[in-house]
Amino acid sequence: MADFQTVCRVAEVAEGEGKTVQVGTKLIAIFRHGGQFFALDDVCPHMGASLAGGYLNDGIVTCPWHAWRFRLHDGAWADNPRLKVGCYRVRVVGDEVQVEVG
Ligand code: FES
Repeated sequence: MADFQTVCRVAEVAEGEGKTVQVGTKLIAIFRHGGQFFALDDVCPHMGASLAGGYLNDGIVTCPWHAWRFRLHDGAWADNPRLKVGCYRVRVVGDEVQVEVG
């Protein structure tokens, strides 16, 4: 059963940016975009760049290395939705950002 875990504070993720956090053995990218928080696997499936360092635009993060694009709301590759990275539910409790990781 998955549980929500606190991964960082709201103030640690600026609007329009991402941050890498570690939950157990997983690296997860937390994004703040349009006032909402999103969580995807941080490791790009192409060659392993950190997606937290990517560029956010219109609900999509663009990998900083070779510009593969992933949708923030479900982790799907924007150019071929059959390929996906892990996507996790996020909630804010007080000033804590919490992610549901199984
Ligand atoms: S490592 Fe992400 S697109 Fe190449």
